[in-house]
Amino acid sequence: MFAKAIVDSGLKKHGFTSDNITPFQMKKIINEEILPKLVKFMKGVETLEALGVGQIIFDVKKNILFINASFKRLVGLSEAVESKDVIAKAELEDIIDSILKGEKENIVKETELKTSKLRLNIIGGPVKNAQKEITGVVFFFQDNTMRAALDMEMDHVYEKLEEKNAKLNEAISKLESTGKQLRQSEKMAAVGQLAGGVAHEINNPLTIILGYSQAILKKVQEDDPMYKPLKSIENATGRCKKIVSDLLAFSRTEKLEKENIDINEAIDQALTLVQAWSKVKNVEVSKKYSQVPQILTNKNQIQQVIVNLCNNAVDAMPSGGIITITTKQLDECIEISVADTGKGMSEDVKHHIFEPFFTTKDVGKGTGLGLSLCHGIITRNGGTIQIISEMDKGTNIVVKLPITQAEPQKTEQSNP
Ligand SMILES: Nc1ncnc2c1ncn2[C@@H]1O[C@H](COP(=O)(O)OP(=O)(O)OP(=O)(O)O)[C@@H](O)[C@H]1O
Ligand SMILES: [Mg+2]
Repeated sequence: MFAKAIVDSGLKKHGFTSDNITPFQMKKIINEEILPKLVKFMKGVETLEALGVGQIIFDVKKNILFINASFKRLVGLSEAVESKDVIAKAELEDIIDSILKGEKENIVKETELKTSKLRLNIIGGPVKNAQKEITGVVFFFQDNTMRAALDMEMDHVYEKLEEKNAKLNEAISKLESTGKQLRQSEKMAAVGQLAGGVAHEINNPLTIILGYSQAILKKVQEDDPMYKPLKSIENATGRCKKIVSDLLAFSRTEKLEKENIDINEAIDQALTLVQAWSKVKNVEVSKKYSQVPQILTNKNQIQQVIVNLCNNAVDAMPSGGIITITTKQLDECIEISVADTGKGMSEDVKHHIFEPFFTTKDVGKGTGLGLSLCHGIITRNGGTIQIISEMDKGTNIVVKLPITQAEPQKTEQSNP
């Protein structure tokens, strides 16, 4: 059919029809024009067939001019085919109309045919004669099912990869934070050793200075010009002794007595040391205790933690405020939280607060050992200490201690 169309168009080009042409003219036109075109067309047809590309050509009245075997296979057609069946099965009605009307030049689309369930790439366009008039429509169909399946598989693989990547990033950040904690512990151990040695050496001379200044003070009247300087020596030495005892606690290596203690009771006793000072500073202490089981630990150390946290809270509220101390049981641990309504901490401060000697307080007001001491005590007890703080809103220090079921009277080797 398509070959006839080629012959007719070749004759028409020279003003002939099959009726008004002589055999000689016919032979000349066939040899010089029509045959080369036919050979070219047939080569194209063979190539497309070999590649499994479906091809179909319609004339302007939507009659089939040419159809290859691959097209029938892809669209799911039997041998004898009618144009209207092909158009319906291949779902081409609208496309053919718009191409014939000249509304669309070329059409490329991917579709899943209802008939064959195959995903096909369809390329369609007009067939034009030498005068650029539309004389038909040609379609090429290519099976895309495999590629679509591959695409889906690739999407799946990418999804899995992204999941794995996220898990890897999570593991890396955990590793980084563990590394940070490890470096922090090493640093604290080194500082602890150094500080312990220095504190030990300074402790004896300080005891002598304090002892003598107190002894002389007893003999000096308050109106004596020596009284004030001596009192200053006593106060300053007292402060030095406090720093030295903090340092010794920080680097403590002796065995510590452990006993089963009631945390609420221990906190109450520690608060007696804090409350006088907090009242002066206009700070109210509110207790929200729950009933918690006893835990095996060193009472003095836990009280040291509470006193340090409360002192920090009082310092963070220069115009007064509230300290709320909460205790509660959570699964396998006891949670103690010390919350204040103070100035809070910046992100930068939060990153450094467990470092020994980190302080934002004026010289002589803080040594920067309080929280690193707390950190050491809590981690040595198998617990955790966490900071929740917002600038100008307040700080909440949350301590978690495991509920240990060991025998009472046990001792631990404390190590910074
Ligand atoms: N409750 C809090 N609110 C705001 N900032 C705090 C609070 N607790 C601690 N900080 C900040 O953390 C820093 C370190 O606290 P840390 O207790 O270790 O040392 P310090 O209080 O400065 O000195 P020290 O306790 O040795 O006398 C403080 O200087 C302060 O900036
Ligand atoms: Mg402190």
